[in-house]
Amino acid sequence: MSSSFGTLFRITTFGESHGAGVGVVIDGCPPKIKLSEAEIQIQLNRRRPAQSRLTTARKEADRVAILSGVDNGKTLGTPIALMVKNTDQRPADYGRMRSVPRPSHADYTYQMKYGIQALSGGGRASARETVGRVAAGAIAEKFLATQCGIEIIAWVSSVFSIEAPAPDMMRITRADVDKSLVRCPDSPAAEKMTVAIEEAQQAGDSLGGVITCVCRKVPGGLGEPVFDKAEALLAQAMLSIPAAKGFEIGSGFAGARMRGSAHNDAFIKKGDRLGTKSNYSGGVQGGISNGEPIILRVAFKPPATISLPQATVDFAGRDTVLEATGRHDPCVVPRAVPIVESMAALVIADLALRQKMRKNETVQ
Ligand SMILES: Cc1cc2nc3c(=O)[nH]c(=O)nc-3n(C[C@H](O)[C@H](O)[C@H](O)COP(=O)(O)O)c2cc1C
Repeated sequence: MSSSFGTLFRITTFGESHGAGVGVVIDGCPPKIKLSEAEIQIQLNRRRPAQSRLTTARKEADRVAILSGVDNGKTLGTPIALMVKNTDQRPADYGRMRSVPRPSHADYTYQMKYGIQALSGGGRASARETVGRVAAGAIAEKFLATQCGIEIIAWVSSVFSIEAPAPDMMRITRADVDKSLVRCPDSPAAEKMTVAIEEAQQAGDSLGGVITCVCRKVPGGLGEPVFDKAEALLAQAMLSIPAAKGFEIGSGFAGARMRGSAHNDAFIKKGDRLGTKSNYSGGVQGGISNGEPIILRVAFKPPATISLPQATVDFAGRDTVLEATGRHDPCVVPRAVPIVESMAALVIADLALRQKMRKNETVQ
């Protein structure tokens, strides 16, 4: 079941990067949610290749088609199938890389595991697979926004060694994030990040970066200890994104360098509930949401496919030099922002449905 994720709101993605198309089947989406292709398209457009000069030049419109599960603009509660056709495949770009596995890509491990691999372009390891996640995430977000008022916003917080100051997490909007091509809401940092990515691109190299995500208005009580703790599912969701190499929630690794007296989130009364003064816990304690914003960070490595010459060996173990060809992202974080948002939405929608089931509430 390696292509499926979620318990009640369950998705299965399908498709290879250079095959006929990619998509997703969503099982367990509640009925009677208003839904159109146009709403799903908004997030797909933010993930799309060739959206700016900072992304791969592969030209895909990524037009989504709803094949099932929606009638007359409303979900039916039956499986929703979504499909996006691939239109700009160029398998010839990958000719040389068929005999030489790209260092730090998935060519070697896929071949070792399956004994066969898609002829070109990374197959399922390509970020094209995430089209299905983003399409499903848009539906999960619609459910969360309409049923619980939950808002999920992610942005680029660093690229290489350039770090942006933290924005006001309670107010930041997607419009603030999309003001810059790099999807960093701080304009001076965004400018520096843009220059750094362009320089790396011109040099045939690539850069890594970090995405921060806030999930606001998440009610307390979401998370299923002990193995399906909210942060455990979020970590799994985020680390399943191609090129994601690190996950933190709340204070994360920095918390390991603090004392308990400084790190503890003191309780205070917030309206009719208990809230916390600080939020080093990142909105989750004991694996259960506590009503504070969930704040997480995901670190992405520099993409592996670079055109600079790299000394390596071919599949037969013979020394060679690889200068990768094809169209590639010099830095994945601008396009990964909607992917992080979608994975967060999928986890929270699933946990919200599980909590409703626990409380014997129907979803309408
Ligand atoms: C939005 C996005 C775009 C990506 N674009 C590229 C790319 O153009 N070239 C590349 O080598 N890797 C790219 N990747 C990363 C690879 O898919 C990934 O590194 C590869 O599958 C190996 O998996 P791993 O890095 O998780 O170990 C991208 C990832 C994301 C999230």
